[in-house]
Amino acid sequence: MYYAGIDLGTSSVKLLLMDSEGNVCRTASREYPLSFPKDGWSEQDPYDWYEKSVDGLKELLSGISADEVKGIGVGGQMHGLVILDENDDVIRPAILWNDGRTTKECEYLNNTIGQDKISSYTANIAFAGFTAPKILWLKENEPENFKKIKKIMLPKDYLVYRLTGVHATDVSDASGMLLLDVKNRKWSSKMCGLCDISENMLPKLFESYEGVGTLTGKAAEELGLSTKVVVAAGAGDNAAAAVGTGTIGDGSCNISLGTSGTLFISQKEFHVDPYNSLHSFCDANGQYHLMGCMLSAASCNKWWMDDIIGSKDYAGEQEGIEKLGENRVFFLPYLMGERSPINDPLARAMFIGMSMNTSRQDMTQAVLEGVAFAMRDSFEIAKSLGLDIKRSKVVGGGAKSPLWRRIMANVLGIPLDLLKTEEGPSLGGAMLSAVACGDFPNVEAIAKKVVKITKTEEPDKELTAKYEERYQSFKKLYPSVKELFR
Ligand code: XUL
Repeated sequence: MYYAGIDLGTSSVKLLLMDSEGNVCRTASREYPLSFPKDGWSEQDPYDWYEKSVDGLKELLSGISADEVKGIGVGGQMHGLVILDENDDVIRPAILWNDGRTTKECEYLNNTIGQDKISSYTANIAFAGFTAPKILWLKENEPENFKKIKKIMLPKDYLVYRLTGVHATDVSDASGMLLLDVKNRKWSSKMCGLCDISENMLPKLFESYEGVGTLTGKAAEELGLSTKVVVAAGAGDNAAAAVGTGTIGDGSCNISLGTSGTLFISQKEFHVDPYNSLHSFCDANGQYHLMGCMLSAASCNKWWMDDIIGSKDYAGEQEGIEKLGENRVFFLPYLMGERSPINDPLARAMFIGMSMNTSRQDMTQAVLEGVAFAMRDSFEIAKSLGLDIKRSKVVGGGAKSPLWRRIMANVLGIPLDLLKTEEGPSLGGAMLSAVACGDFPNVEAIAKKVVKITKTEEPDKELTAKYEERYQSFKKLYPSVKELFR
């Protein structure tokens, strides 16, 4: 039997086929456009997500007999606002997690209503990319669209809706809407009131490992599958990656170096960071997690390589970078503003410290290091909360670079475990669907069977000390320049 996992990412959809033994048999992917209509805005067309996912699924499943496919599970980019009208048609392009247009709305929620209140309703405060401030933005700026809203959902939920006909979401993804009472895993009527929406505009809540339904006749026909295929509620991409990397159990940690960069710490019990720098969200295994999220991680290197240097040879560009811990050039990775821990949608990226000796290699190195230093900022917050992170898994596109892994392990000063597959969210999606099919009793059981560590990147004492010194300088940069971005 097979299970398909889908990672509905920001630059592409990644698909993976897992067998009953937990082996990854095949992968496929399809890219789709991302548009930045204004500085700091970020949008995507939900129809692209569905079309490209179906196209990718067809490739993934070609030659597999329909009755061998049992489940589908989706992990997806979080926080995006998808709105449907009375015919379940998409009203406008989705406003994504890395969109920074809601500064005013966040100020209203955090300052006029008050962080304490918002945090007591949702366990979080308003961040520019979260869904609730976007609803307020829409009400103010596109009232004609606001009036048409019949359903509000998240990106992966749109895909699940098109596959099953059910308006559903899961608690991990819903946590990032700022509409969920995270502690009690239910919608917050207080937040619905503040956003002027009714609770029946929101999708039905599930645990990530529960099935929301089976394929509709139309979707089954399109995919060449049976209508018995179970579709799991799935999870936000980071919670799905935690499943795919076995980041389950109190205090275990996963770092994702995708378009965004995240530090994900699983928690058995519900906890809130008193400063709300780390998000407090539901986990995909019925528990909770704390998470720091950088808006631009691997996307900084993609921008530097594709748009600035104009090269696709990522590995070649990193070859010969050897003087680690000695680079005089710094890079602030705030290309789309920043979420954790500085919460500043107006922040922007910058290089600093170049001289006539500075080479293209130094700048490439600075980009990789800047992302690692900014990840360290969230790591420091976790430490200040008494969370003793002794090691972490690492996944995502950036984790494919041996150089970047080495920099990250030494900037954080902890060993980083590499897994057999770095496709965390899609593997997690497939695993959640196997639990939804009833083939495993719970998420822990399947993680035990499937997740295998293949290699560990150990930090080096001397290099960690050099990076410690560089980090102390990096830390001073943003506070000294932040007023320039106002
Ligand atoms: C998490 C977050 C990102 C997106 C992108 O809070 O915003 O990791 O989920 O995939």
